[in-house]
Amino acid sequence: MNKSKNVFETRFCRHLDELKWLYMELYGNDAMFAELCDSMGRFYQERNEDLKILDLEREAQPDWYKKNDMLGMMFYIDNFAGNMKGVQSKLDYIEKSNVNYIHLMPFLDTVEGRSDGGYAVADFRKVQEKLGTMEDLEHLTAACHKKKINVCMDFVMNHTSEDHAWAKKARQGDEEYQSRYFFFDDFTIPGMYENTVPQVFPTTAPGNFTWLPDAKKHVMTTFYPYQWDLNYRNPRVFNEMMYNFLFLANKGIDIIRIDAVPYIWKELYTSCRNLPQVHTIVRMMRMIGEIVCPGILLLGEVVMEPEKVVPYFGTVEKPECHMLYNVTTMATTWHTVATRNVRLLKQQLDIVNRLPKEYVFLNYLRCHDDIGWGLDYGTLMQEGIGERSHKQYLNDYFQGYAGASNSRGELYNADPLTGDARFCGTTASMCGIEKAVCEDRCGSNTLERAVRLDVMLHAYMFMQSGIPVIYGGDEIGQLNDYNYKENPHKAADSRYIHRGAMDWKAAGQIEDVTTVPGKIFSQLDRLEKIRKSEKVFMADADTWTIDTWDESVLCIGRYYEDEKIIGLFNFSEYDKTAWINETDGTYVDMISGRRMQASGVNIPAYGFYYLKKENEPGGDSDEIL
Ligand code: GLC
Repeated sequence: MNKSKNVFETRFCRHLDELKWLYMELYGNDAMFAELCDSMGRFYQERNEDLKILDLEREAQPDWYKKNDMLGMMFYIDNFAGNMKGVQSKLDYIEKSNVNYIHLMPFLDTVEGRSDGGYAVADFRKVQEKLGTMEDLEHLTAACHKKKINVCMDFVMNHTSEDHAWAKKARQGDEEYQSRYFFFDDFTIPGMYENTVPQVFPTTAPGNFTWLPDAKKHVMTTFYPYQWDLNYRNPRVFNEMMYNFLFLANKGIDIIRIDAVPYIWKELYTSCRNLPQVHTIVRMMRMIGEIVCPGILLLGEVVMEPEKVVPYFGTVEKPECHMLYNVTTMATTWHTVATRNVRLLKQQLDIVNRLPKEYVFLNYLRCHDDIGWGLDYGTLMQEGIGERSHKQYLNDYFQGYAGASNSRGELYNADPLTGDARFCGTTASMCGIEKAVCEDRCGSNTLERAVRLDVMLHAYMFMQSGIPVIYGGDEIGQLNDYNYKENPHKAADSRYIHRGAMDWKAAGQIEDVTTVPGKIFSQLDRLEKIRKSEKVFMADADTWTIDTWDESVLCIGRYYEDEKIIGLFNFSEYDKTAWINETDGTYVDMISGRRMQASGVNIPAYGFYYLKKENEPGGDSDEIL
């Protein structure tokens, strides 16, 4: 006990000065700071011994998550396996998928029909009844830890549901609770905010405020009207939310995804995005985590352009998030699919590759949200490509309207005023598998090509630096699910098209490589195993791009401790040649085992190569693998 107390004291003392400084800068409230410190001690005491051991191990190896075996999978618990216990029963499948990090999509108490996919939390300390209990969560995380699987959950800190106890009291007129949100008697100040604050859901939830007829007040609601923005100027809000964070961390959570983090501080005359105080809060949260539960990681959800994303890593001395989403790369990937031109993607990868290696990005092809076309339009403009017309093209393309497109999916939040729209669809549907499978006018070639595109995109994602995350079901090529249209609570939100229930019947076919699930699963399995076993895939390997002199072929190089690999990816439906010329030795294609030169490489339509440099010259074995 004493020893453990010392551990806490040491961590506490390490951060006390800075934490106090930042807290006072924001709140200037000694009593509330003292309360925060006491509570941290209490949460530390409550943390179970297994987690404390894990904390110590991870503290001793702070780069534990930067290994090449990290592979994530995200899913909604009910869609994946019914409930928490169901997920526990599927851990073998998760392991078989080479996944060692699962992101359980929002599972805290929320009101059906006013939940925004669980992102409107009514109680941070209660699991949705249909999914289980806090105890089930603890059992699940413990079972995961036995299998070395990390568990990620969302921490929705920008807002609460209007059904949260605080919101209910605020609505009833309690001023203390009203001060935890943004309440206004009339529209004067809200109107001023509206002049500078953009809209997140321009079609499904226009405006940033909601009128409450019963309370006769306007309340700030950046997202849906039932998601009330929290006021972090109030130290009570900050403290209580930190207690919620620590409570959840103590349930065995390894990765806390800070939802919508750029939005958490509001200021008149600004866009209310990425304000300096947001960084103060995230930095405090990082320190609070490092004091109480240093085994956990913070994953920031910053869906913005690279210049806005990177500051959320903080600095080497004052880090904020451990990991961030590689969102621009994701959007640029689909731009490349639609244009067959890798120029912008290469430039984007160059930007990411130039960043310090300490920065860990989560790479993904798609997630539970829409794909926003946040591309580098400055560069596209130089080629005569305008933003509006290009977004229109991408949306047409992925709906399957453009000539050479086999994609299927739907628009999201099409804004009639700006002409802007985002896009929803599963990876497989966007690659053409849905069209090939469901509209049988297509020959088997179309299907084969769509599967190749799907696998090539995964192969390319695995080659990027960072941690890949797959949306559960993409590993078996799940298609769009149009059932959401029948559900009145979901019909208006097309994001549900790519959040369908896991098709376990299809998952039963993964051993049969004549089936689509079998083809995709087996090929991803091969790639994942290569990635896990080759140290060039370590997060801190050197990563760079190489010119191929073909607009459709992307080339990525990686180097780590004397090992080198070159990835070639053909984004077009035609066979191509990569005019690279790596003359430093012979290479082996890690998929076929074939020895080859890394120069003038022919790549079939939507094909790819993982070429590993042979370190020992000579030898004529073809069976490297
Ligand atoms: C995040 C979530 C999204 C949700 C929003 C509001 O962006 O990813 O699904 O709608 O936050 O909480």
